[in-house]
Amino acid sequence: MFKNLLIVSLILVSVIIVLRTLTLSVRSDNLRPCRSSDADFIPASDTVLSRFQQALRFRTVSIEPFNYNREELKKFNNFINEAFPLLHSSSFIKHEVIGNFSRLYTVRGTNTSLTPYMLCSHLDVVPAEPSRWDVDPFGGEIRGDYIYGRGTIDDKHGVMGILEAMEFLLSKGFQPQRSFYIAFGHDEEVNGADGARVISETLYQRGVRRLEFLLDEGLTVTQGIFPGTDTPVALIGTSEKGYINVQLKVKGEVGHSSMPKKETAITVLARAISKLEGHPHPSMFGYGPELDMFQHMASKLKPLHRAVMSNLWLFSPLVSWMLSWKPETNAIVKTVTSVTMVHGGVKINVLPPEAVAMVNHRVHPAQTVKEVVDYDRRLINDDRVEVTVLDSMEPLPMSPYGDEDFGYQTIKNSIQQIWTTAAVTPGVMIGNTDTKHYTRFTENIYRFSPSFMHPNDLKRFHGDNERISIKNYEQAINFFYHVIINANEEKLLPYHKHGEEL
Ligand SMILES: *[C@@H]1O[C@H](CO)[C@@H](O)[C@H](O)[C@H]1NC(C)=O
Ligand SMILES: *[C@@H]1O[C@H](CO)[C@@H](O)[C@H](O)[C@H]1NC(C)=O
Repeated sequence: MFKNLLIVSLILVSVIIVLRTLTLSVRSDNLRPCRSSDADFIPASDTVLSRFQQALRFRTVSIEPFNYNREELKKFNNFINEAFPLLHSSSFIKHEVIGNFSRLYTVRGTNTSLTPYMLCSHLDVVPAEPSRWDVDPFGGEIRGDYIYGRGTIDDKHGVMGILEAMEFLLSKGFQPQRSFYIAFGHDEEVNGADGARVISETLYQRGVRRLEFLLDEGLTVTQGIFPGTDTPVALIGTSEKGYINVQLKVKGEVGHSSMPKKETAITVLARAISKLEGHPHPSMFGYGPELDMFQHMASKLKPLHRAVMSNLWLFSPLVSWMLSWKPETNAIVKTVTSVTMVHGGVKINVLPPEAVAMVNHRVHPAQTVKEVVDYDRRLINDDRVEVTVLDSMEPLPMSPYGDEDFGYQTIKNSIQQIWTTAAVTPGVMIGNTDTKHYTRFTENIYRFSPSFMHPNDLKRFHGDNERISIKNYEQAINFFYHVIINANEEKLLPYHKHGEEL
């Protein structure tokens, strides 16, 4: 009897696995792909490229909070004013400089009952060390098929891409029905306190309470990074990890090293560190967007991978375990811990009066700062170790990415018009952006940069020889064009849903 039941169950499970593998799908709309022969295609003409090169030549470097290159920001601002004449003379677009250098555009639509949305990017860049670059990081040089320069991917292609799309739309007589905002902060790389925070405050004081959705820089289109697929995978960041800086401190008794106690401040601290290292935080696979990430990718995967990813109801523990092996994938499914500094002792023959370690956590969106710190305390479980939170930020709320979520689907469709074969999936952003300043306006916050990354491009991000291909820059402009067109719809078009019956 039991044996029969077991066999029946096994058959049932196999049938479900096969059925789900064959039928599982997520919303897919009938989209018009973006082609260079389209009347509304925006080519990367010499004029367009030269404007981008000029933008890259402004050394709008941010060093630390409140310390950024004001002179260059001012020049970049002046350049933008002159380079896009239609945008700055339109009767329905209000343009303002906020916090001296940030920019806010209010584009007034014809139908005020539609909730406005917002596009964001930032004007500043991180520093660059010219001796390690093959080209001048602020030269805006084109070599072969690539444009080089600090800011090509983070995030002047966002700023200039949006501006080019706007100028083009205005040249065609476009006026939207749905209002929207364009916000460019000027100190995103150093927390955005002077830029995005002030823009947000300004809007709030004007009575703005709700945005339909917000699109800011974020994850990208990748190829060759995920196992089991050769097609591009575009990740839309639907949350950001938080962080915690924790200090561990142990006080010791000073004395001569010739008569040691059983333990010193250093050995007590070392034991605490080793506990943290030996017991990583639990995998949150299934509690954040990662599980759905694989599910959304499933249709583009090779058969075996596809069977697994379509059946995470069964294989989730296995996948979760596998993801924990590589640092890159471990970081997306867990709160991670790095012991980054340690300090203690004064002299080789004196017992240490104190030992201190600094620990940096990146908090998974399914956890809170408090949960992580409590976990640390429980783990260390030693009153002699004083655990102090020096600084922290909660992970940002998870934005919805369902079949009926207007913002997510609008961005997803725009991506698929440009990268027609791409799998589009939600994902967690490991770094932080300006979006933290805008959470009061909407839960529909999405982080996506229309840049295309091969595995060895990743190190160029905040690294040396940052670059974007000419083709990719053209795609970026057209991506923003399609976002503006698609977001102008009153609602998502109805679609026929396949699969999901199970
Ligand atoms: C903006 O400029 C004014 C005048 O130079 C200065 O007093 C103020 O501190 C500046 N604000 C920021 C955020 O830089
Ligand atoms: C404006 O948008 C609302 C909400 O979608 C819609 O009901 C109304 O018909 C629209 N008005 C016009 C003039 O299109």
